[in-house]
Amino acid sequence: MENKNPVKIGIIGCGMISRAYTKNIPLFRQVELTACADLDPARARSLAEETGSRALSVKELLESEVEIVLNLTLPAVHDEVNRQIIEAGKHPYCEKPLGLDFEEARATCAIAEERGLLIGCAPDTVLGAGVSTARRVIDDGWIGQPTGGTAFMLGPGPERWHPNAGFYYLKGGGPLFDMGPYYLTSLIHLLGAVKAVSVRAIRSRDERLASSPELWGQRLPVETYTTYSGSLEFSSGAIVTIGFSFDVQRHGHSPIEIYGSEGSLKVPDPNGFGGPVEVYRPDANPDRAWEDPPMVHGYSENSRFLGVADMAAAIREGRAPRCSGQLALHVLEIMTACEASEREQRTIALSSTVERPAPMPSGLIVGQV
Ligand SMILES: NC(=O)c1ccc[n+]([C@@H]2O[C@H](COP(=O)([O-])OP(=O)(O)OC[C@H]3O[C@@H](n4cnc5c(N)ncnc54)[C@H](O)[C@@H]3O)[C@@H](O)[C@H]2O)c1
Repeated sequence: MENKNPVKIGIIGCGMISRAYTKNIPLFRQVELTACADLDPARARSLAEETGSRALSVKELLESEVEIVLNLTLPAVHDEVNRQIIEAGKHPYCEKPLGLDFEEARATCAIAEERGLLIGCAPDTVLGAGVSTARRVIDDGWIGQPTGGTAFMLGPGPERWHPNAGFYYLKGGGPLFDMGPYYLTSLIHLLGAVKAVSVRAIRSRDERLASSPELWGQRLPVETYTTYSGSLEFSSGAIVTIGFSFDVQRHGHSPIEIYGSEGSLKVPDPNGFGGPVEVYRPDANPDRAWEDPPMVHGYSENSRFLGVADMAAAIREGRAPRCSGQLALHVLEIMTACEASEREQRTIALSSTVERPAPMPSGLIVGQV
């Protein structure tokens, strides 16, 4: 059935990730992409041509009829571009992270709220079948009361394969700011808000030696920490051990595990939409095997844009978006507090909190939110 009142969408930032979004737009009838803009007009033209939308300047796009503007620019300007979007009276949906500075991003969220505008923010992988099913396992009591867990994103760093890896080692990069949003957002869906963080971090080397074909032999200066190790204390009382690193050649940890009074849960890679979810309960598993429950939610394929579609529905239905600015702001505070915890060598209590977003319903057909 044709949607007579789709939410019109514009994109600012027509680089690499923009295609991951536009590929899935046709799945969602809630929205219509009408315009693209980029500091580089050729990039805007090329995306507009591919998607049958118009290439505009940033100013023209902000003056156009769009209601949601996808901010797919780089992390260093996410907050500044979000402000421009809000000042133009549009709802921003931002790539992760929401910004680099917690207080600046908090002020931006306050301006949006005053103006009655929503903010949305990636990642939306947490709305996929994997994390949604893991959340259902917890919410339905399969593992009892969650008391703790682990979250590990450990790897050798992107300089072996990424054509432009330098920015990963500058301010706003590093394993925590780059990958943390996937893990931390998932943990909040699973366990709720974080109360305090206690973290140690190191910068293992001053330079990284690139071996990708594009940067082969170049030495990349390192400004960020490259290994973080510590713990998160949740308002529920649960404590989770975290590790984020670009200094690990190989490891044997699950991305996320949650331990409860009655069982344990392995959560799939939060940078993807699918499974498997694995559950262990001693009474059901006398042979101590992990079991894969069926996925009880849709969207197990790559469905990037799902969060935008949910925000479009939220605008029409007058409800909060699931991938909300408040959630992303809390994630940003956790990440900046991890850095402060190392700098100040102490536990940092957080000033923000957030409700767990409404879970995704099960039984949706593709395109529904
Ligand atoms: N590339 C990936 O695999 C990936 C994956 C997940 C998330 N992300 C996130 O997506 C965002 C974009 O990454 P990317 O890989 O597409 O980068 P990119 O460099 O390919 O694209 C960014 C685009 O934004 C434009 N831009 C920058 N500042 C602008 C401004 N002020 N106004 C208008 N246009 C502006 C640039 O000209 C460029 O075309 C980042 O936040 C990144 O963390 C990227």
